[in-house]
Amino acid sequence: MKEQLSEIKKVAEEHLKKAQSVDALEELRVKYLGKKGELTAILKGMGALSAEERPKIGALANEVREFLSNEIDQKKAEMAKILRDAKLKSEMIDITMPGKKQEIGNLHPLTKVLNEFTDAVIGMGFQIAEGPDVETDYYNFEALNIPKNHPARDTQDSFYIEDNIVLRTQTSPMQIRVMENTKPPIRVIAPGMVYRSDSVDATHSPIFHQIEGLVVDKGITMADLKGTLEALIKSIYGNDAVCRFRPHHFPFTEPSLEADRQCFSCGGKGCSVCKGEGWIEILGGGMVHPKVLKNCGIDPEIYSGFAFGIGLERLVMGRYGINDIRLFFENDVKFLKQF
Ligand code: DAH
Repeated sequence: MKEQLSEIKKVAEEHLKKAQSVDALEELRVKYLGKKGELTAILKGMGALSAEERPKIGALANEVREFLSNEIDQKKAEMAKILRDAKLKSEMIDITMPGKKQEIGNLHPLTKVLNEFTDAVIGMGFQIAEGPDVETDYYNFEALNIPKNHPARDTQDSFYIEDNIVLRTQTSPMQIRVMENTKPPIRVIAPGMVYRSDSVDATHSPIFHQIEGLVVDKGITMADLKGTLEALIKSIYGNDAVCRFRPHHFPFTEPSLEADRQCFSCGGKGCSVCKGEGWIEILGGGMVHPKVLKNCGIDPEIYSGFAFGIGLERLVMGRYGINDIRLFFENDVKFLKQF
């Protein structure tokens, strides 16, 4: 039995040397020290020994068991340390390295000013309406008192899809859509994209944005229109902004006006920004034409209303001193980052 024990120790030591993983070590533990292990078998067979031999062999067997058990534990601890060190090394963070900067985008200047505008009118009790970019001739022109062959159509060179289907040239068709579906009192704005077949230059783009405004109720007058527009202009350009109203003509409003803002660049003296005028046109508006009210089933004897249309790009250009409309649509990050 003595020889058997030293043989087990010798072989086990060889195995231990070769064991390269924690799992392999665990297998060795089972093989020698487990319930059915080789060493355990010897300990179990000790009953057959003489009283003299038993304590000697017992002591030797325990020695071998302790030796193997310690060796296995020690080697396991070494391996665990190696593994842990490797893991720590691979996961090491160099806190002296400069951080990776997250690029956070910002709102497009058109969106930013539109949001400010929307906030201002919502505070005045307006609601927001949205409608189709592809319109029928009826909504875009006819119902707005612009019949076929009316010269007003010439000023809005249009993209026709079919004879009676057009990319809307203005947001004014939203007046009709809202009035057809809503009983007065009405207070809405309708922002959106509009399309005209203009050639591109510093002040023209085939795609741009308008914001339409419409108020219909009993007793609405030109004074309401002027007061509302003045408050809106100040909300966009600040309380110092000076504006003036001029008579104008639109087929769907009577009387009609255009509003100008005193030139932000020269303060009204006349410069290249305002082309020597001292004033910059910012919107058109007027009292909704009785014919237009009638087209939508609203009785002009009972109700009156005002409407206005603002070009968003022009508003934003004036606000930030931008001198070329193309910048809005070129998606140059260097430009867009500034707002
Ligand atoms: N739709 C006009 C345009 O594109 C702007 C406009 C003028 C809108 C007068 C209105 C208005 O609602 O009353 O030139």
